[in-house]
Amino acid sequence: MSSHQGANQRVLSGMRPTGRLHLGHYHGVLKNWVELQHSYECFFFVADWHALTTHYESPGDLGQHVTDMVIDWLAAGVSPSASTLFVQSRVPEHAELHLLLSMITPLGWLERVPTYKDQQEQLRERDLATYGFLGYPVLQSADVLAYRAGLVPVGEDQVAHLEVTREIARRFNHLYGREPGFVEKAELAIDKMGKKTARRYRDLRKRFQEQGDDEALAVARVMLDSQQNLSLGDRERLFGYLEGGAKIILPEPQPMLTPMAKMPGLDGRKMSKSYNNAISLRSEPAQVDQQIRTMPTDPARVRRTDPGDPSKCPVWALHEVYTPASTREELAAGCRSAGIGCIDCKRPLIEAVLAELGPIQERAREYAADPALVRSIVSEGSEAAREEARETLDEVRRAMGLDYLR
Ligand code: TRP
Ligand code: SF4
Repeated sequence: MSSHQGANQRVLSGMRPTGRLHLGHYHGVLKNWVELQHSYECFFFVADWHALTTHYESPGDLGQHVTDMVIDWLAAGVSPSASTLFVQSRVPEHAELHLLLSMITPLGWLERVPTYKDQQEQLRERDLATYGFLGYPVLQSADVLAYRAGLVPVGEDQVAHLEVTREIARRFNHLYGREPGFVEKAELAIDKMGKKTARRYRDLRKRFQEQGDDEALAVARVMLDSQQNLSLGDRERLFGYLEGGAKIILPEPQPMLTPMAKMPGLDGRKMSKSYNNAISLRSEPAQVDQQIRTMPTDPARVRRTDPGDPSKCPVWALHEVYTPASTREELAAGCRSAGIGCIDCKRPLIEAVLAELGPIQERAREYAADPALVRSIVSEGSEAAREEARETLDEVRRAMGLDYLR
């Protein structure tokens, strides 16, 4: 059973610091973040500790990778005034929560995550039989739960990690949300909302508990979210009381699947640095021009006079991202009749990519020339994130009985 569904609109997502980003990151992730930041409260962070779970032997480039990635985020339009941008290792609350959650996470949950075995096999040259690597999803859970985020924009490959996060949250609430006198406290909290709201809450709760009415549950949650005068503790009680006998201290997040299909690379496969088929966001225009001009085309078009088939051409996959349908029809006809050559076909694509990269590169240059500005954006973002994470950790410590002698 999910928590706060339809009510908790805080968004959080992270990326491992891989250095400079390419058009695949832009179309697959960053454009989405840029849009989300105007409709939701957003937290975006660099998962630098996650990078160490696989690259602990060579952390040397980490600083450069983090800086390059943050500059590319900013260049793509992720805005420090619209969202909170931070670096994981600057918020030590993630580490504390990771430790505390590790206490309640059964080993089997982690061993069963598909990426655990897959990655160990794919990265055979590294020894990934470590405690830290096994705990990757616990750290990721701490990232999300420290902010009580409701929505986590991620790709398909991260859904299994989010499922672990949901299970950990559920187990945490089950173990630590059971305070003595819960029902009495919840009943008192209901009365604090005033007669009318209290009656409505009881009615919705009954409809959910007796008839399994999910709609009633959703309505009740929205109602609770708008109750200004409830204390944090009472709010958690009333969320939990809707569904059962425990407080909801850590709400279960939902994955928010990124709509964009795989961005094609220069060779028709998915764009990826490791395939060496990527156009970097900060490539010089001359290099972009050269990369697209030398792209392979339909192998049947050996000579200019040979007709081609766009569906067999990697260039075409990029036209489908960049070129309006009307122009595309003309190009496709020209390809099939050998009316145009491949260079003619590539030219509008080169122009479209350069037009998209122009403003991104201009902003990237500005940020790259001002390291103090980038540093202060990250420092301020990390401090703001910390404030939020601190509040959650206060709650978590109290729930686990760690609030003595304070
Ligand atoms: N594991 C994610 C990835 O490889 C990165 C990540 C770390 C993350 N913590 C997160 C994503 C929290 C979303 C939320 O892409
Ligand atoms: Fe590909 Fe365009 Fe050449 Fe046809 S004309 S083969 S679509 S590059």
